Amino acid sequence: GAPVDFDLTPVAEGQIVKLFWRGKLIFVRHRTAEEIKAAQTVNVATLPDPQDDAARVKPGKAQWLVVYGNCTHLGCVPLGNEGAFHGWQCPCHGSVFDTSGRIRQGPAPTNLPVPPYTFVSDAKIQIG
Ligand code: FES
Repeated sequence: GAPVDFDLTPVAEGQIVKLFWRGKLIFVRHRTAEEIKAAQTVNVATLPDPQDDAARVKPGKAQWLVVYGNCTHLGCVPLGNEGAFHGWQCPCHGSVFDTSGRIRQGPAPTNLPVPPYTFVSDAKIQIG
């Protein structure tokens, strides 16, 4: 699959947009300051799949989270702004993801993966 450009300009703060790349669902989330803070102020060592929020976003672009949109348990589509950590909650078996897309509760074994992407300008990413 070819790389895909995605314009971030229309994505309002607090909004989650879905897109497809190589047939895979991807979430682009414009995180609020509160959501960023929640993602950053976690004792990473306590997480099932320990990963710093900083490793999941681009430098200076913490407001943008880009993750694959299928639950790492059995592939259902988690619902945004749901669950105890206000990230996502999976409707199938209850996995709970935080505002960094990291698994926090439930059967999903790993965080929502971050696809390969780069910022090609201040408000545009290229996925792939
Ligand atoms: Fe998401 Fe099972 S598919 S919890």
